[in-house]
Amino acid sequence: MRIGKGERVVVLTGAGISAESGIPTFRDAGGLWERFRIEDVATPEGFAADPVGVWRFYSQRRREMRRAVPNPGHLALAEMERRVGEGFTLVTQNVDDLHEKAGSERLLHMHGEILKVRCLACGAVAHDETDLPEDPRCGKCGGRLRPHVVWFGEVPFHLPEILGLLRSCDWFLAVGTSGTVYPAAQFIQLARDAGARTVVVNPDPTAASPHADRFICQKAGAALPGLVASLF
Ligand code: OAD
Ligand code: ZN
Repeated sequence: MRIGKGERVVVLTGAGISAESGIPTFRDAGGLWERFRIEDVATPEGFAADPVGVWRFYSQRRREMRRAVPNPGHLALAEMERRVGEGFTLVTQNVDDLHEKAGSERLLHMHGEILKVRCLACGAVAHDETDLPEDPRCGKCGGRLRPHVVWFGEVPFHLPEILGLLRSCDWFLAVGTSGTVYPAAQFIQLARDAGARTVVVNPDPTAASPHADRFICQKAGAALPGLVASLF
C-alpha cells in the first residue's frame, strides 16, 4: 500500500527511535525508570520537594543528548515529511532534539523539550544549551527555572491540535513507544476510528501492536528507511 497524493499522515514517536542514537529509553531493561523514580524526577511534586535533584537528572539527560546524532530512523521520517509535504505531522513524546537535527520541521513536541527552560515566576520560555547551575534562575526576573518538559499529572502540549489531526488522518505510524502513557497511548485508536491505516514499528510487541494493520517487529533504524521507501 502506498500513501496517495493529498493524504494526511501522523507519525508518533517515543524513546525507542532515539535508542540507536545512544539515548536510554524509560521502560526497557536498563531504562531510566529502573534507575530513577518517576515521582522524584518527573512530577511537579518531585520538583517542589527537591529542585536540585531534579535539575541534576535533567542536566545528565542534556549531556547525553549533546553527544547524540540522528540515526537512520530519524532521517527516514524527515524524508517522509519531504515526500508527503503539508499533510504530514510528526508528534514526538521525546524531549531530545534529534528529529530537528535530522531535518524534521512539521514537528510537535507533546512532552516538551529538554533544551528549553521555563520560569516559574514570569512564565518566560528560553532555549538554553549551556551547562546549567544546580538551581538555575531566570535571566529576566530572577525566578526559579524548571525544565520545559511535561511531567506526570500535567497536560501535554499541543493536545487539541494533535487530536484534530488524528481525527482526520489517513495514515498513523507509531515508532518506538511502549504505548503505556496517556494520552499518547490512545492515539492509535483515535486514528483507527477516523479510518486511518495504522502501522507500528517496534522491536517488541507493544500495547498498540495487536491493534495495528501492520506491525513491523524491528528496530526503527533498521525498519524505517525501507518502510518509507515502500510507501511512495
Ligand atoms: P518507553 O521507554 O516506555 O518505550 C520505549 C519503546 O521503544 C519500547 O516499546 C521498546 O521496545 C522500544 N524500542 C527500544 N529500542 C528501539 C529501537 N531501536 N527502535 C524502535 N523501538 C525501540 O518510552 P516511551 O513510550 O517514549 O514521559 O515513553 C512514553 C513517556 O513515558 C515518555 O515520553 C516519558 C516517559 O515517562 C514523560 O516523562 C512525561
Ligand atoms: Zn522569569
